[in-house]
Amino acid sequence: MAEMVNPEEVKRRIIVALDVKNRDEAKKVLDSLPEARIFKVGLELFTAEGPAMLDLVKSYGREVFLDLKLHDIPNTVAGAVKSAVRHGVSMLTIHTSGGKEMMKKAVEAAKETAEKESKPLPLILGVTVLTSLKDSDLQEIGFSDDSKKQVLRLARLAVEAGIEGIVCSPQEIEPLRAELGQALKIITPGIRPAWAEAQDQKRIMTPAEAIQKGADYLVIGRPITQAPVPAEAFSKVIEELNSAIKSS
Ligand code: C5P
Repeated sequence: MAEMVNPEEVKRRIIVALDVKNRDEAKKVLDSLPEARIFKVGLELFTAEGPAMLDLVKSYGREVFLDLKLHDIPNTVAGAVKSAVRHGVSMLTIHTSGGKEMMKKAVEAAKETAEKESKPLPLILGVTVLTSLKDSDLQEIGFSDDSKKQVLRLARLAVEAGIEGIVCSPQEIEPLRAELGQALKIITPGIRPAWAEAQDQKRIMTPAEAIQKGADYLVIGRPITQAPVPAEAFSKVIEELNSAIKSS
């Protein structure tokens, strides 16, 4: 039976990457995309302008995906997660290679703080192997497994630690789903609609393909933010998702 498509839920499946260098540029992107629901604040903007950017996104009534890929000792990561929860972020990333204890502490810190301070509980996402690393780079830093095996190993460990979502490349969606089941949330960048330029992304997929392969959320930056009319590009992606969801 065809899946029912709730328009708000479909909009929430696109995370727009706010890859800009300052507040003014962030505002321009936010102003240009009234329909987008979730914005990703990453290292560049956060380092430039700090947590005020989280408040900025929230002041537009939108949700924040805080992509700082935390990687430190358990106590330090737990502290950063608490701060992120206090800012009311909806999603945040940590490195799974920080180990099981670090991930467990992050999950616990999020639950405790959200409950104590009546804040929303964010979805904590594990980053496995950075897609910029080739198998030869992994060997250079002492990992003997190829990236595919390493991704699965780290994702399994993340699930054991209580992590509920993984960020991965579109090529990894199917093996991760097969190995870890339907409950795991899968978020993928590297998305290029058929009508957009690939730019520096190499192993790309269209929004429809990624959704059909089992992605829950798509991180999309330049194809939307640098389109001549960003809101139109966003709508085109939404249309594509609607047909992919209906036919799946
Ligand atoms: O502009 P574009 O759609 O390529 O932006 C994709 C976003 O996803 C960027 O913020 C980029 O840093 C992020 N990302 C990625 N590939 C990864 C992990 C994150 O493109 N493997």
